[in-house]
Amino acid sequence: MSQNPEIIYQAPLQGFTDFTYRNVFQEVFGGVSKYFIPYLSYLRGKEIKKSLLKEIIPENNKALPAIPQVLFSNTTELFELVSILVDNGYKEINLNLGCPYPMATNRGRGAAWLEKPDDLNETLQQLFVKEFPTKFSVKMRAGMKNNQDFKPVLNILNQMPLEEIIFHPRTASQMYDGKADPSLFAEALSLIKHPLVYNGDIFSVADFQKLKSIFPDQQSWMTGRGLLMDPSLALRLNGMETDTKLKKQKLKEFHDRLVEEYSERLQGSGHFLTKMTQFWSYFCESFENPHKAMKLVKKSGSVLKYNAAVVEIFRNL
Ligand SMILES: Cc1cc2nc3c(=O)[nH]c(=O)nc-3n(C[C@H](O)[C@H](O)[C@H](O)COP(=O)(O)O)c2cc1C
Repeated sequence: MSQNPEIIYQAPLQGFTDFTYRNVFQEVFGGVSKYFIPYLSYLRGKEIKKSLLKEIIPENNKALPAIPQVLFSNTTELFELVSILVDNGYKEINLNLGCPYPMATNRGRGAAWLEKPDDLNETLQQLFVKEFPTKFSVKMRAGMKNNQDFKPVLNILNQMPLEEIIFHPRTASQMYDGKADPSLFAEALSLIKHPLVYNGDIFSVADFQKLKSIFPDQQSWMTGRGLLMDPSLALRLNGMETDTKLKKQKLKEFHDRLVEEYSERLQGSGHFLTKMTQFWSYFCESFENPHKAMKLVKKSGSVLKYNAAVVEIFRNL
């Protein structure tokens, strides 16, 4: 490991990086400094999904440096969600200003904030007046539809006592199309007073090295889908060597621990198979023939056949 290790954060991925996944990840791989919990938010009324509340229970995050996140559309929601997290003992809370899905943005949540800097300013001012006993960080995209939205937003964030800002240089309307644009990150770096974390499209050591050559002084990075495809990526970004055989062995160990935990936690083989198939849409990228791996998993249809498919994939693909 080099003298100044790279600081790697696991991105929150709703539906994937739940507490089971986070704990198994930490047990088998690690190499991650902060695990961001997928957002906590309200349904239409004042209800919060039970599954989201389970995510933030301290017992479910005991062994982890876990940072919860809130998705909110106004001060009422924000204060209430923050209070829940403070009551659960969290000392850092991440504010979601980046969620691109219309289900969120149509209700003024997530990336919608990037188009209303004045409202954001007022909301954050009110937040900091409350002096909640916790630190705050922000996770944002470059813009809602316009990739210049971040400029006035960063101006406002500069006035707030934030821990750090995680910046994904894409607009919300892009969703995941195109590429994360390092030149937008460079512009953000030149404007921001807070530590800035790079997030977006770090899928391999080569991707990372390209970014490191553009930003040699940058030391904190967040990766989401890259860690799903290759959970050893965080360790490898810090120089750990793994040959293909060892990489597969570790992935198998990780997979088997997930199977153990989810088959205990999820009721019914249907839920279990759906969950594991979702993971395979990323795991398959670790194999020479991803398409074939995915096909084998998808057509398995029963736990018995799923187990056989997994043996076949690890043995032959
Ligand atoms: C399925 C999925 C769920 C996501 N859920 C969240 C979330 O709950 N909160 C959040 O801030 N970002 C969420 N994101 C965005 C990721 O955290 C991350 O910013 C994005 O995937 C870009 O990073 P990557 O290229 O390393 O994956 C989600 C992304 C995906 C693909």
